[in-house]
Amino acid sequence: MNSPLIAPSILSANFARMGEAVSEIDRSGADWVHIDVMDGSFVPNLTFGPKMVSDLRPYTRLPFDVHLMIQNPDSLIPAFAEAGADYITFHLEAVIHAHRSVQLIRNLGKKPGISIVPSTPVSHVEELLPYVDQILIMTVNPGFGGQSLITTCLNKIKQLVSIRKAKDLSFLIAADGGINQETATLVRNAGCDVLIAGSAFFSAQDKNGLVHALKGEVF
Ligand code: DX5
Ligand code: ZN
Repeated sequence: MNSPLIAPSILSANFARMGEAVSEIDRSGADWVHIDVMDGSFVPNLTFGPKMVSDLRPYTRLPFDVHLMIQNPDSLIPAFAEAGADYITFHLEAVIHAHRSVQLIRNLGKKPGISIVPSTPVSHVEELLPYVDQILIMTVNPGFGGQSLITTCLNKIKQLVSIRKAKDLSFLIAADGGINQETATLVRNAGCDVLIAGSAFFSAQDKNGLVHALKGEVF
């Protein structure tokens, strides 16, 4: 099994020092910067908009993985694309015409992703799998960092691995929420390609060591 990609989430950084947080991610050996956008409606919390993404863009060349936890994502997708997002992931539960949103992201030259909350089954995204670059499995209820991983969600990762193989598709499978050194083993063993970690990353003293540990690389 290949090492998974690691995507630290700036949700757990100090919002008054975001540029520095992105520089820390850059120096840590992590692969992507995960940017959680919340609107106070789809989830009961608020974070930031496209200006944060454009202001952070000069701090790293790592891909920006923008996770939209917002209603009506189509209205803001162009602004996030313009701001410097690489992956743009929206929630299936926030849209009616998910295929249209995927095409919108693709037509803007960005990599589309779809996320599902813990209560949404994999079967709800099955028709969309040929069109996306990423499926993001929420392993906590979205809205806050620092929650515990819901282990039943790991089955969804295994289901996606097997559908991807059966249909000869190539989307990445990401897991988001409650990932730390201990739970990372479970997520990796389920076959996940991208591990998103907020509180585990920003609370770690040795960020480089944590990234290696999350990848399952032992020295
Ligand atoms: C939660 C966000 C996550 C969050 C994960 O709604 O989507 O990306 O930052 O935080 P931890 O790793 O602390 O569970
Ligand atoms: Zn996220």
